[in-house]
Amino acid sequence: MTDSTPARPFPPGFLWGGATAANQIEGAYATGGKGLSIQDVMPRGIAGPRTERPTPDNLKLEGIDFYHRYAEDIALLAEMGFSVFRFSIAWSRIFPSGDDELPNEEGLAFYDRVLDELEKHGIEPLVTISHYETPLALAEKYNGWTSRELIGFYERYVRVLFDRYGRRVRYWLTFNEINSVLHAPFMSGAITTPKEELSPQDLYQAVHHELVASALATKIAHETAPDARVGCMVLAMPVYPLTPAPADVLAVLHADHANLMFGDVHVRGAYPGYALRHFRENGIELDITDEDRELLKHTVDFVSFSYYMSICETADPEARKAGEGNIMGGVPNPTLQASEWGWQIDPTGLRIVLNQFWDRWQKPLFVVENGLGARDELIEADGRLTVEDDYRIAYLNDHLVQVGEAVADGVEVLGYTSWGCIDLVSASTAQLSKRYGFIHVDRDDDGTGTLARRRKKSFDWYAGVIRSQGASLLRGDDGA
Ligand code: BG6
Repeated sequence: MTDSTPARPFPPGFLWGGATAANQIEGAYATGGKGLSIQDVMPRGIAGPRTERPTPDNLKLEGIDFYHRYAEDIALLAEMGFSVFRFSIAWSRIFPSGDDELPNEEGLAFYDRVLDELEKHGIEPLVTISHYETPLALAEKYNGWTSRELIGFYERYVRVLFDRYGRRVRYWLTFNEINSVLHAPFMSGAITTPKEELSPQDLYQAVHHELVASALATKIAHETAPDARVGCMVLAMPVYPLTPAPADVLAVLHADHANLMFGDVHVRGAYPGYALRHFRENGIELDITDEDRELLKHTVDFVSFSYYMSICETADPEARKAGEGNIMGGVPNPTLQASEWGWQIDPTGLRIVLNQFWDRWQKPLFVVENGLGARDELIEADGRLTVEDDYRIAYLNDHLVQVGEAVADGVEVLGYTSWGCIDLVSASTAQLSKRYGFIHVDRDDDGTGTLARRRKKSFDWYAGVIRSQGASLLRGDDGA
């Protein structure tokens, strides 16, 4: 970030805000009739072991206690001038076992209260229907999305949501980072088969079930809640060739296709040719019914995505070794710096992905996750405790500048919700010390802390960005 020219203007009506997920903030994991979710048995995040039952070292069980403090938290978001707040509904609060006949009224009433609070402050809700928190019973009894039966349970759940909240919620996302099931089958797809033993056949059948369920949700929303706009949500990660060798460029194409397929089906309503070829050549014979094909034609109103980093791809097996262990595959880009958790920081990648998606789909886009996970230090300044998080301000500034550049390129962007606007428990590592927020939450990785909320320096900075509609962002001399 260099302080020179102001950023480009954002369009009128652009939605500014932040994003969260129920399992990472709510806590109260067994309160109000809630059933267990897969997160309740993942005390160490994606890579860690699963436990039989919840264990006290799982920080998500208490989260940041949003369940009890939502009013205070939403008031703080309103103080920053948020016009949108993304949160998820915990499926197991509504259907504790996932396959229950009737919903849990206490769970529904909780989200009524959250929506009341948002309405009070004029904040638009953006609701994720399923954010890595499938009811545990659906994993244990049905092996998650590998089973076609999950489509019916999801349908029952979304019907209840649209019926109850359809007049109050305009923006809906069907599945968080739906393409992540390829890499994290348990967290993303509630699939209990260990990843190494999961066949491509079962994995892609699960993908297919989720895609059908997503299209079904879109259909139901359009029929029952005419003002609702439904979006898919994908993990976006631009892929660059490690070298200009055509084989590396082809490796990029294949890596891109693996992820773009999800958007292609959501936007175009059918599997693209490259996916059919992949299935054919890998012995994958999907059970796709005529009814499925009809349902897939119910395409989304907008495309939303998370963006944190880019990666490189190469056809060279030796060079590929450098990427081993990276959850999304790929290899590190030698020209970029990384966060402490190895996520390579690439603001320009956000402009690239916005253009790529717009050129490909011509659907309005929504950046629903972006941010820097970093360790923060509480200090005393002007008689109050705060965090001088200039690193976070720089990251967000530079990424928002690129959103402005994409808007200037002609891309239709509905809004931007930074990830973890209030500190929360990390999805990949289950730490609290990997913080993203404008609001500090006093809780440590060992579970101690008062849960007090404190405004960081970035709190005032983001309030200024929103107040000025992005005019206070600083563009580097090179336009980046
Ligand atoms: C996204 C998820 O992958 O990245 C969020 O949708 C997650 O749930 C976010 O929290 C950041 O990842 P992490 O591992 O730093 O929490």
